[in-house]
Amino acid sequence: MNLLDKFHNWRRKLRWNKQYRKGRWDNLRNPIEAERYQTIINFIKSYGKAQPSILDLGAGEGVLNEYITPEVFSYFLGMDFSAVSIQKAKTKNFPKAEFVTADIHNYTPKQKFDVIIFNEAFYYVHESEKQNVLDRMLAHLTDDGVLIVSIYREGIGCWEYFDKLKQLDFTTVKTDEEKTYWKIGAYKLQMLNARF
Ligand SMILES: C[S@@+](CC[C@H](N)C(=O)[O-])C[C@H]1O[C@@H](n2cnc3c(N)ncnc32)[C@H](O)[C@@H]1O
Repeated sequence: MNLLDKFHNWRRKLRWNKQYRKGRWDNLRNPIEAERYQTIINFIKSYGKAQPSILDLGAGEGVLNEYITPEVFSYFLGMDFSAVSIQKAKTKNFPKAEFVTADIHNYTPKQKFDVIIFNEAFYYVHESEKQNVLDRMLAHLTDDGVLIVSIYREGIGCWEYFDKLKQLDFTTVKTDEEKTYWKIGAYKLQMLNARF
C-alpha cells in the first residue's frame, strides 16, 4: 500500500471503532445471520481435524464464539484491527479463546493453525495486498489444515484468489431477503503446490 492507501486504511479503522462503540454491528447477532455462522462451524467440524486450533481473521466482537461450543476446538485466536471490537470480545471471556488487535495487512501469526477463517474480512483487504495476505495466512496453515472463507453476496474481485486451492465445499447461505446472502467456501492446500 502506498502512503495514501495507508492513510485511508487508518481512517477506516477509526470508522470501525466508532461503529463498534455505537453498537452499529450488533445486527451480526440477528437470527438472519445465524445460518452463516452455523455453516462455518459445520465446515470446521466436517473438514477440520478433531479439536483444531482456529484463527479467525476479522473476528470483530467474537460473534462466532457465541455460536461455537468450546469442545469443538482446542484453541481459538480472534484478530481484528478494531481495538474497540477486540475489547468487547475479550470481556466475554470465551473459553480457550484469545483476541488480539492487529491489522490484517501486516499481521503475521505466531504459530500455525488447523483452521483459518476469513470471516467477512477478505473484501476489506486492500486490492494490492490480497495475494500477499492470503499467502501469509496459507503459510500458517498446517499441512492438512482448512481455510474457510465467508463473503457477503457475490464477492466480486475476491473468489478468484482461492482458485489455486483445492475446494472442499462451497455453498450459498440464502435468506428470505433476496439481496441478503453469503457464499462460504472451504479449501485446503494443494499438496503439489510448492509455494507453501
Ligand atoms: C463485517 S465485520 C465481520 C465481523 C466478524 N467476522 C463476524 O462475522 O462476526 C468485518 C470485520 O473486519 C474487520 N476488519 C476490516 N479491515 C480490517 C483489517 N485491515 N485488519 C483487521 N480487521 C479488519 C472490521 O473491524 C470488522 O470487525
